[in-house]
Amino acid sequence: MTGSSPDSGNTATALFEPSPEFRADANAGPELQEAADKDRLAFWADQAARLHWHEPWSEVLDWSGGAAGAEPAERPSYVAKWFVGGQLNVAYNCVDRHVLDGHGDQVAIHFEGEPGDSRNITYSELLAEVSQAANYLTEIGLEAGDRVAIYMPMIPEAIISMLACARLGLTHSVVFAGFSPSALRQRVDDAEARLVITTDGQWRRGKAAPLKEAVDEALYANGGTPHSVEHVLVVRRTNLEIEWTDGRDVWWHETVAKASTEHEAQPFDAEHPLFILYTSGTTGKPKGIVHTTGGYLTQASYTHHNVFDHKAGKDVYWCTADIGWVTGHTYIVYGPLSNRTTQVVYEGTPNSPDEHRHWNIVEKYGVSIYYTAPTLIRTFMKWGRQIPQAHDLSSIRVLGSVGEPINPEAWRWYREVIGANKAPIVDTWWQTETGAIMISPLPGVTATKPGAAMAPLPGISVKIVDDEGNDVTDSEKEADFSVRSAGSAHVGYLVLDQPWPAMLRGIWGDMERYKATYWEKFAEQGWYFAGDGARYDEDGALWVLGRVDDVMNVSGHRISTSEVESALVGHSGVAEAAVVGASDETTGQGIVAFVILKGSTENTGDALVTELKAHVSKDISPIAKPREIHIVPELPKTRSGKIMRRLLRDVAEGRELGDTSTLVDPKVFEDIRAAR
Ligand code: WT7
Repeated sequence: MTGSSPDSGNTATALFEPSPEFRADANAGPELQEAADKDRLAFWADQAARLHWHEPWSEVLDWSGGAAGAEPAERPSYVAKWFVGGQLNVAYNCVDRHVLDGHGDQVAIHFEGEPGDSRNITYSELLAEVSQAANYLTEIGLEAGDRVAIYMPMIPEAIISMLACARLGLTHSVVFAGFSPSALRQRVDDAEARLVITTDGQWRRGKAAPLKEAVDEALYANGGTPHSVEHVLVVRRTNLEIEWTDGRDVWWHETVAKASTEHEAQPFDAEHPLFILYTSGTTGKPKGIVHTTGGYLTQASYTHHNVFDHKAGKDVYWCTADIGWVTGHTYIVYGPLSNRTTQVVYEGTPNSPDEHRHWNIVEKYGVSIYYTAPTLIRTFMKWGRQIPQAHDLSSIRVLGSVGEPINPEAWRWYREVIGANKAPIVDTWWQTETGAIMISPLPGVTATKPGAAMAPLPGISVKIVDDEGNDVTDSEKEADFSVRSAGSAHVGYLVLDQPWPAMLRGIWGDMERYKATYWEKFAEQGWYFAGDGARYDEDGALWVLGRVDDVMNVSGHRISTSEVESALVGHSGVAEAAVVGASDETTGQGIVAFVILKGSTENTGDALVTELKAHVSKDISPIAKPREIHIVPELPKTRSGKIMRRLLRDVAEGRELGDTSTLVDPKVFEDIRAAR
């Protein structure tokens, strides 16, 4: 088991019941679960009716791809089809229909730039700008099904670009603007993107940092080897000087901003690919997770409405994620906009110009729903409660958490200091692959417990099972992974035993890997294995414990151990590397690397460690930079040559060593400890 356990050992904690006032006015009520229990597919059909469909569907779900089959020809593809035959346009649902319904003057986006500039964009203005972008992308010859890479900071044009792609049936691939040129190139190549949309630079802690430069570097990588990109569309954000390739590069303000503001949205099939989003797996190569249109938007809209109790035209919503991650896709762009949300979009870091920034923004716009990650909550705790307490946060009425298990201490602080002991907290479990929230309390319905994600949402079905697939509540046996949490009854693997509308439809270009990664472990039963461990406590509350595979979770970012290992061995001085995630007070997990140098490499100590850290940071992204690197003479291996990461984790976390009996040479640890 990786990850810091949220388990305080004290699970008999009092429940926080929804207040009668909240309950009385909540979007969700007990009837949701009743309806889902009665007829799950009819329930989802009702949710899909939240959207505007140009053509109705003929069948809610076709799961013929998921039936277990023995003969090769009948082997399942595990690709679900939801709302078969239905047609819709995502951008129409997120923008046009609100304007047509008479809400064109409602603010869609309160944009707050890092340097202090701000801009309010109404739904009418959003429609005009999305239409302009759609017209220009059509003019340069892009057609439905083509891929577009979006490599941008958190500015309105990033959202406009995503919506313009959705409007035209172009499949977008958003690449986090903190990723390196080589990471960008890898993603551009994998999806064969025809267009990259970027900015000249981005604001970070008061400074303009280049961004277009990284695109140039990516596209010229490997001596300018051919790539699929025909155009680079550049938004001017910082006025930094940039290199320019005539014919390829175009300015947004000279093209999109001059295009017609009229554009008619065409419908696309419910299973048309909406986006690809790359995420880390257990091997070095990122996986291009594919999401489609109708089912995805249905679940995005349903969950945003019910989990956040969002009231259109009344609430001011703020999700602090970046559009480079799935949280930004589903809970900044598609869920909120489909529900006619007024939301804050903030460009920068939480401490620019100082630690008051978020609370200034909450006060300025009267934010009522605030959705963030445990790592940031722990950072706020470190900065001290006097900072939020210097502000009027009384507008806040719902608080959300996502990205990693939230420890009960952070949960309590969040409720007390930010939520004035009354705002319900929704701890939402989901993944890039699930597309939308799967497990979460429903405010106004579910009593909550500090640290627990509580229960699957109505319409979603989960199980916690042992290695054979037995329900852990019925079984004495626990799953075969080492669990450190105290008093952990009923621990096992988290599986999804029924298809859900926003589920991934595959890995771009690698359907074999899709099957192997998610469906092999419980192939017999046909269940999706999420990669997380979970448990029920004695009250039946569900706790997600974190990854059970070689995926680390650093500040809510998913990073594979092998990705960092391959970056390290990519350095000319390194012979071998092993990477583990060790628990970290602020970031959840921190990356700890053990490296063996090549014989010819001189061990310069700290200087070399600094160089190696910078190397990983540049090769992948600053988020993948190891917290510690230890230069060691040897790595612990089994007789079959497998690195014993579990033992390295024990070392990294300063624990007594676990079972070392399968090691070739148990003495390597004395050397490793000496090197620490
Ligand atoms: C992994 C998915 C979902 C958007 C952000 C991350 C962990 C996520 C929780 C939570 C415990 C959580 C899981 C999951 N995770 N939310 N509320 N409680 N763990 O998306 O990068 O695809 O990562 O994040 O380990 O598998 P992602």
